[in-house]
Amino acid sequence: MTTPKGLKLVERDATGVDTAFRADVLDGLAEAQKAVPARWFYDDAGSQLFEDITQLPEYYPARAETEILRGGAKEFADLIGPGRAVVEFGSGSSVKTPLLLSAIAPSAYVPLDISGDFLRAAAADLAAKFPGLPVWPVEADFMRRVELPAEVDGLPKLGFFPGSTIGNMVARTATDLLRSMRETLGVGALLLIGMDLIKDEDVLVAAYDDAAGTTAKFNLNLLHRINRELQADIPVAVFKHEARWNDTYARIEMHLVAQEDVSFSVSGQRFGLTAGESIHTENSHKFTRRTSNTLLAAGGWEPRARWTDSEQRFSLLLAEARAPRSAP
Ligand code: AVI
Repeated sequence: MTTPKGLKLVERDATGVDTAFRADVLDGLAEAQKAVPARWFYDDAGSQLFEDITQLPEYYPARAETEILRGGAKEFADLIGPGRAVVEFGSGSSVKTPLLLSAIAPSAYVPLDISGDFLRAAAADLAAKFPGLPVWPVEADFMRRVELPAEVDGLPKLGFFPGSTIGNMVARTATDLLRSMRETLGVGALLLIGMDLIKDEDVLVAAYDDAAGTTAKFNLNLLHRINRELQADIPVAVFKHEARWNDTYARIEMHLVAQEDVSFSVSGQRFGLTAGESIHTENSHKFTRRTSNTLLAAGGWEPRARWTDSEQRFSLLLAEARAPRSAP
């Protein structure tokens, strides 16, 4: 759907329901292991709760990555060089993007985001902080190849994907995304990407189940959103937030666990869980140096450099889009 101004909107039916949200929830609740994709966490309340999470003492990734970006300025400048178009996958965060832009003296900044409102706000913020730097926001789903603005055509590119958001995808989706990024940016482009590291289970579980209960609120907000937007009557109080380490896939999983037998309806369809059954709401994969390199290579990116914070909790990797080759 397109507005008169040409801006893309979410698809809504005659009653105003986001049809993709409804389809994902109905499909996911019909699975044997019930699940709702994590992307639906981020309504206004969920986005605010995620901002709160990044400030929690237990949630180290945001602080660790910022530490790397602060400490690595000289090396980023040497390895990446000036004059690149920085293409950020997602709207620039308030702290991380300025740290990178200050370090490498780019020629243009291109934030890509599916949410036009966040995109325009972030772009205006960056433009005010870096007067003289051309900012070309693009409203797009970066899970597919994106046409970049003609203004950055001749410039060398640096993709920027901080936050370990790649970890929220299963390997197949993460590989597809890396391949799309390579198509968007072209052979020879660089990519600076955050990936969280495997560490003690206790530290990981605490980061996703904090003492203040903020992550629990973030997880449970998904049920409130379903009730509000999809004519549902889920008794939210019956569900308890749980963060589990899945050692097979090296990931933290977030679940909403029914504390007693429960049934409810969503958009006219009935669902039930027995006590102890859960709705799986998020994966957050963790990496080692080798597994992150393997993932990058599967997506067509050659690892070039790697940084970690002082406590080895988080990694930032620089990779180059290599030309396709068939031989070993
Ligand atoms: C956005 N993403 C990288 C976060 C993570 O750590 O996987 C989302 C999050 N979920 C719970 N806490 C943070």
